[in-house]
Amino acid sequence: MENKHSGTGNDNATGTATKEVSFLNRIDLSSPDIHQSVSLLKQACLDCGFFYVINHGISEELMEEVFEQNKKFFELPLSEKMKVLRNEKHRGYTPLFDELLDPDNQVHGDYKEGYYIGVEVPEDDPKAEKPFYGPNVWPSDDILPGWRHTMEKYYLEALEVARAIVRIIALALDLEADFFDKPEILGQPLALLRLLKYPGQISDPSNGVYGAGAHTDYGLITLLSTDDVYGLQICKDKYAQPRVWEFIAPLKGAFIVNLGDMLERWSNCLFKSTLHRVLGNGQERYSIAYFVEPSFDCLVECLPTCKSKKNPPKFPPVIYGDYLGQRYKDTHIDLNVYNKLQS
Ligand code: OGA
Ligand code: NI
Repeated sequence: MENKHSGTGNDNATGTATKEVSFLNRIDLSSPDIHQSVSLLKQACLDCGFFYVINHGISEELMEEVFEQNKKFFELPLSEKMKVLRNEKHRGYTPLFDELLDPDNQVHGDYKEGYYIGVEVPEDDPKAEKPFYGPNVWPSDDILPGWRHTMEKYYLEALEVARAIVRIIALALDLEADFFDKPEILGQPLALLRLLKYPGQISDPSNGVYGAGAHTDYGLITLLSTDDVYGLQICKDKYAQPRVWEFIAPLKGAFIVNLGDMLERWSNCLFKSTLHRVLGNGQERYSIAYFVEPSFDCLVECLPTCKSKKNPPKFPPVIYGDYLGQRYKDTHIDLNVYNKLQS
């Protein structure tokens, strides 16, 4: 199948330019040469904040199953999907336009549907009193047999991949390999799996229409797997004008990994939380994002290895849950809108 993606071009209305597909370093998790992995990863984090992870240990069968199940869910009638609509704990279905990632440049919300799955916390667990912690919602097993099982399996396996990657990141920041394994960071992670479908709509940046508006991710790292349809673009320098956008090529079986805002804060901007967006090209596109977030109470402040007298911290310390809550509030439709629509 031909992948329609634009080459070099300009988009004058928003003062942006697009370039051909960029090259990303590949981190091989099966490699015994940890020094090489650290060096490749560090280079990627300093340069563009995105890299591929290959040989990550999740089987091809599971990857395929997750994509098949993903597709089955989004093919359900809207009335069925609305039965598992996103709740106040950010679990469940997000319809088209639910999220608006770049309000300054978008005429309406993102042209995508999604489904959030998070860490399973029973309702009567004291932890469930906090935002973002609670039980998941699932489509009925009669309608999508095995769906929950597949997603739970993937959720756990992807978390192990994330743990392996953050060990390499810690080493690249001159920290102990287990730095991010602390209880307040990945001991009780707030990881969120987000299934995504971009319907076959053509984005129109000059008129503010996007699959997903320009944004950075919020947490530690994001593990993205995609089908083979182009769509994801990154902007290496978010402060440059005009902004230059480059397509990231899908790589079968690999994760596209990018750093979130907390790594930029921990590292005092040494590592980048890179701006990215998704353009629809007329083909349906499926992707699965796994946001690996520190725990809700984690205090994120500049690492001792990343500050000096000449280079003082650029950000004040922040409680991750506060940051995440604010970002979600800024970018998601108020749930009352749906309540009104349904009543
Ligand atoms: C995201 C994201 C990219 C994609 O969900 O944060 O950047 O290709 N997704 O779906
Ligand atoms: Ni993103």
